[in-house]
Amino acid sequence: MGVIVLINYDVVIIGTGRVGLPLGLCLAELGLRVIGIDKNKNIIEKVNENQMPFHEPKFNSLIKDVEFNVVNDYTVISKSKNIIISVGTPLLPHIEADISQIKDVLKEAMKYLVEFQNVILRSTVAPKTTEYIRNYLEKNTKFKVGENLFLSFCPERIVEGKAYEELRKLPQIIGVEDENSFEKANEIFSLLTKKTFRTNYLSAELVKLFNNANRYINFAIGNQFAIIAENFNENIHEILKMANYDYPRDRISSPGFTAGSCLRKDFGLISESIAFPDILLSSWKINEYMPKFLVDNLLNNTKVQNKKVIILGYTFKQDSDDVRDSLTPKLIRYIERELPDDIIVYEPNIDLTDEESLTDEDDNLPLFDLLKKGDIIFITVPHSEFRLKNEKIFEAAKESAYFVDVWNVMNRDKIIFKKLDELN
Ligand SMILES: NC(=O)c1ccc[n+]([C@@H]2O[C@H](COP(=O)([O-])OP(=O)(O)OC[C@H]3O[C@@H](n4cnc5c(N)ncnc54)[C@H](O)[C@@H]3O)[C@@H](O)[C@H]2O)c1
Repeated sequence: MGVIVLINYDVVIIGTGRVGLPLGLCLAELGLRVIGIDKNKNIIEKVNENQMPFHEPKFNSLIKDVEFNVVNDYTVISKSKNIIISVGTPLLPHIEADISQIKDVLKEAMKYLVEFQNVILRSTVAPKTTEYIRNYLEKNTKFKVGENLFLSFCPERIVEGKAYEELRKLPQIIGVEDENSFEKANEIFSLLTKKTFRTNYLSAELVKLFNNANRYINFAIGNQFAIIAENFNENIHEILKMANYDYPRDRISSPGFTAGSCLRKDFGLISESIAFPDILLSSWKINEYMPKFLVDNLLNNTKVQNKKVIILGYTFKQDSDDVRDSLTPKLIRYIERELPDDIIVYEPNIDLTDEESLTDEDDNLPLFDLLKKGDIIFITVPHSEFRLKNEKIFEAAKESAYFVDVWNVMNRDKIIFKKLDELN
């Protein structure tokens, strides 16, 4: 007699972070029975109280409207038709993919796999990771992929802040090595998006990595040009305005802090397989140099010692509450080496008391009160609030204050300028 397994869920999502949670909620909105597994207590508590653990537009209301819970219990796997893995895949300092979270998931999950389940890998991975997963599952379970277990790599290509739209708009790449696995993955993703592409594991892995690497390299070009312009004592923002104005070909990127938990590490998932210095490694070097570039250039104009430094922005990108792999902490470390009197950070999208290093009592003062105190004002993230209030920010600053504005939020077309010089 066969074993009867009760299937209660259509999908279980393992890893309900910035990628897994929006996907789970969107699938639940489509009427699927979805449950999440995560080991982070804060995420479990918040989601089960119908609150988003992070900011992502449109999801504050969606999470209240749909049935979706998160548990720290792998046994639910055996009750689901589909299993989506969306845990983190960081980069080790050696420029080596860290697949420990995926390995932990496999170790736990394989205990509960049942025949004919469909496993979808959603995390961004280094080439050949899906093949490793297939081999691991075939070695450690009684199943054979394509016959009585299905496996695909279906990369997530959304950007934070646009998850709701892009989950529906972006074509879904489906990397498979057999027809059955394609049909299973396609069944789910064609509910969400109009277009799916079938390819093999490796090409699907490369599509995702090339999309991100392309962005990373493009931002590095903008940063490289800013460094070159500065070496010639010329102004990058002014040059870019002319270069890009009504020019019908390849827009040059503006300089800025290029970071975040995807761009800053995905290059390494490719670069680890290349023996020689490559364009990815060079882009990494240029993008990572930007905090030092700003501090070194500031030092050509003024000393930092005994000055109050105000930093506007702390997250890795505009209008986000995600601080992972932001370059601002790196900038702060360079500023600290120059012995400022004080460093005060203003970040409108997060509660800075959560950040250990930012305990200064002034951190929560309203923006304009803070600005009055600053000798040097860095704008490290082009938040909408800063763009909208740029003239008021300028007015509130002391006349003797220096601005360091890599994003041109202040619209002065200068990376470093003194307020007094702009008044004259
Ligand atoms: N954030 C993005 O915009 C984005 C976009 C596209 C792709 N990606 C990729 O998607 C993947 C996930 O990224 P993210 O930003 O959602 O990361 P995240 O850190 O926000 O989410 C990962 C979640 O997995 C959980 N987790 C880790 N190990 C676990 C385990 N053994 N069992 C259960 N849960 C576990 C963590 O607690 C966390 O909540 C990464 O590979 C990333 O590169 C991210």
